[in-house]
Amino acid sequence: MQDVIEALEARRQQARMGGGETRIARQHEKGKLTARERMELLLDEGSFEEFDMFVEHQCSDFDMDEQKIPGDGVVTGHGTVNGRLVYVFSKDFTVFGGSLSMAHAQKIVKVQQAAARTSAPVIGIFDAGGARIQEGVDSLAGYADIFMENVLSSGVIPQISVIMGPCAGGDVYSPAMTDFIFMVKDTSYMYVTGPDVVKTVTNEEVTHEELGGARVHAAKSGVADGAFENDIEALVQIRRLVDFLPLSNKETPPTRPSFDAPDRVISSLDTLIPDNPNTPYDMKELITKVADEGDFFEISPAFGANIICGFGRLEGTSVGFVANQPMTLAGVLDIDASRKAARFVRFCDCFNIPIVTFVDVPGFMPGTKQEYGGLIKHGAKLLFAFAEATVPKVTVITRKAYGGAYDVMSSKHLRGDINYAWPNAEIAVMGAKGAVEIIFRSELGDEEKIAARTREYEDNFANPYVAARKGYVDDIIMPHSTRKRVIRALRTLRSKDVKNPAKKHDNIPL
Ligand code: HXC
Repeated sequence: MQDVIEALEARRQQARMGGGETRIARQHEKGKLTARERMELLLDEGSFEEFDMFVEHQCSDFDMDEQKIPGDGVVTGHGTVNGRLVYVFSKDFTVFGGSLSMAHAQKIVKVQQAAARTSAPVIGIFDAGGARIQEGVDSLAGYADIFMENVLSSGVIPQISVIMGPCAGGDVYSPAMTDFIFMVKDTSYMYVTGPDVVKTVTNEEVTHEELGGARVHAAKSGVADGAFENDIEALVQIRRLVDFLPLSNKETPPTRPSFDAPDRVISSLDTLIPDNPNTPYDMKELITKVADEGDFFEISPAFGANIICGFGRLEGTSVGFVANQPMTLAGVLDIDASRKAARFVRFCDCFNIPIVTFVDVPGFMPGTKQEYGGLIKHGAKLLFAFAEATVPKVTVITRKAYGGAYDVMSSKHLRGDINYAWPNAEIAVMGAKGAVEIIFRSELGDEEKIAARTREYEDNFANPYVAARKGYVDDIIMPHSTRKRVIRALRTLRSKDVKNPAKKHDNIPL
């Protein structure tokens, strides 16, 4: 028996070595951890249970039957993050460059299906060269099997992708269908076709980094929801993110003990808004002051920075914060901000996470770039997302809420449950200057008259009382009591039960 046990241990040891010492050393030289080292950092110590350690590919073309490595380039299984079950797969670049064979794909599908059956998230770690060229069409079939599971699990269990090396060709589309993509600066890149193909087809010369590096996707394309300095930071942050999320759409968001008083008064908020309505202030200050213990996990901080999205907790329970950021483009809604926030709102709604919205929005971004880019459809995404969301929705207008953007930002009219405004709020069809120029066009040459008209408009309409008189805001609250009032509002909404009309699915303007 001892021999048998030793033989098993030897086989396991061989599988754990993946592509061997030289390739592991090469991985480390590039500043990357191995697939197994990543798993260890992501999961609670000793919690990892591996599946399919001995799986090998079945390909015999190109002499592949002579090159078999147990595990076949992906480490799969489950473990826990702070005691909560998650399923994981981690591509092993040391084995055929982490490329995807049919056997490799089946291992991933097994994990995806187990996660769906047991209502637990899937976290995928990517570091791979795309389709296993030697397997040809079997590799394409394997990718499609994974995509299918991604789609079936969308909105059922959270799916998170972490890109920690190359992620090219077929590898990009599975992450693209997951809820969040995070990348590592300098060592990861994502693209459909690499620099060589780009050169051949378009004659453009670009590096891997310029084409699909972490900075490109986290700030320009919006494909990635964040970029971290190295593998370790990325995995620590993913653990933090998982703590905010329910394990599936059957659960309510997690609650953990909070030592932050729900009725904490925040006096400094009374002076957050500058006297000049055109002077910016940092909306993140409001979020971190309101959230329990100032803990805020921001999604896509570098992309569409004119809107802030992220997770925090109130009375220990996760909430999604959405807030216009006056520090960037005066908090205007443009294509990027609308797309980013729409997706975030929909994530929260899928997973029963209440949404707290802070509004300071001067309107939609004007200009040909925006109109040609489809601002109408993209802006409609955010409108649609807020409107269809049935989770508790609490809104606080801190300053401007102008025009269509007022409607969009979780207004009463889109089934906002509790809508508050600060006393300095300006809820109006547009800013005073624009309104006067339209209503009093005939007086436009007379500066004195126009100035008087503008002051008159500001006094009569640039305030929260017009909306409050009509019940469009439920109350005008003191800035210092914002945390207390939002928490009280959310308490009353714990039993909220609203369903949209029965349908196959909606047709959000994609
Ligand atoms: C088989 C692969 C491979 C692949 C890499 N390897 N990619 N083996 N299929 N797709 C192997 C290499 O042969 C090498 O083996 C080892 O992995 C490490 O690769 P290197 O090239 O030495 O590493 P590096 O210099 O870091 O370059 C990484 C890379 C490059 C940029 C990812 O390997 C590369 O360009 N690979 C091919 C990418 C590609 O064209 N993929 C197919 C996309 S088409 P040894 O034995 O030397 O260690 C696709 C379509 C699917 O994915 C569509 C489905 C929807």
